[in-house]
Amino acid sequence: MIGDKKVLFSGMQATGNLTLGNYLGALKNWVSLSDEYECFYSVVDMHSITVRQDPAELRRRARSLLTLYIAAGLDPEKNCIYYQSHVSSHAELAWILNCFTYMGELNRMTQFKDKSAKHADNINAGLFTYPVLMAADILLYQADVVPVGIDQMQHLELTRDIAQRFNAIYGDVFTIPEAYIGKVGAKIMSLQDPSKKMSKSDENPNASIYLMDDADTIRRKCKRAVTDSEGVILYREEQPGIRNLLDIYCACSGKTSEEAVKEFDGCGYGQLKEAVGEAVVGVLAPLQNRVKELEKDKAYIDSVIKNNAEKAQYVSTKTLRKVQKKIGFPERPRQ
Ligand code: TYM
Repeated sequence: MIGDKKVLFSGMQATGNLTLGNYLGALKNWVSLSDEYECFYSVVDMHSITVRQDPAELRRRARSLLTLYIAAGLDPEKNCIYYQSHVSSHAELAWILNCFTYMGELNRMTQFKDKSAKHADNINAGLFTYPVLMAADILLYQADVVPVGIDQMQHLELTRDIAQRFNAIYGDVFTIPEAYIGKVGAKIMSLQDPSKKMSKSDENPNASIYLMDDADTIRRKCKRAVTDSEGVILYREEQPGIRNLLDIYCACSGKTSEEAVKEFDGCGYGQLKEAVGEAVVGVLAPLQNRVKELEKDKAYIDSVIKNNAEKAQYVSTKTLRKVQKKIGFPERPRQ
């Protein structure tokens, strides 16, 4: 708790082009939860370097991601929005937690297996211990809730295991966090292969809607979405392509799947795709305009970066010091 509020933590990587999946699965929920909780939203640039990055590009993407958080509706006066790399406690706690995490646990992480298959020439130790840094992010702020898409559930389970293990030895040091998974949009699938999640690293640009795609591109990608030959619009497992389009439609319009199925009763796939395209444009076009406006105000963004990093450092250092004391590191002389 901070004051009378429970704490929320979440983050996104500043890598690749963000997709509609990132928005509907995570960012959109962040905004809806932000009044209820004391919130920390990080641009997790330290996680990004587990895969080789172009330095100038990483810096540019990190800044535009931070701007996007604000553009999506997170008020930086009320929500702590900051770069992970500006807050040294993340790396410090991650090291300690590495010593409380087993190789076997990390070996089971499906994202590690997927990423090491994809980057076979660079299976570095950071890629392996990535979930431990994620655990440090969450536990430093004593987060009660962590809104994420379904693909991050395994990492969250591990975070809970590490926290429980640590608490069992040293007493109640960490709050045990719960995942928050949105009712719709928690797993948006590829438009070209609905058995795969929509991902920023997909090589086929038609598979993903990027948050900065213009309206015509969005409409075209929806039109080209892979469906099936059933010819009916129902929300069911046997029609993963149609179900994904309905999920996108519902997440963008606020309607339930029952309402959507009723609305498209008797319609062809073309009509559904068109409606999905319009619903997505309706959500993304205003967001893109706000990003462009905010980007012009360099001084404002700079002040957000500075002030919030200080706040994050202050809050996270409290937990770090507690942990350091518990495990037996020598006390620091008073300043
Ligand atoms: P990242 O950057 O891959 O994704 C950011 C958020 O977007 C969600 N997401 C999706 N949701 C629905 N459908 C999709 N197709 C889809 N693709 C991505 C993800 O679940 C995530 O919530 N390891 C994390 C970043 C991280 C983090 C943290 C998250 C680092 N530390 C601490 C929470 C708490 C990641 O790579 O997310």
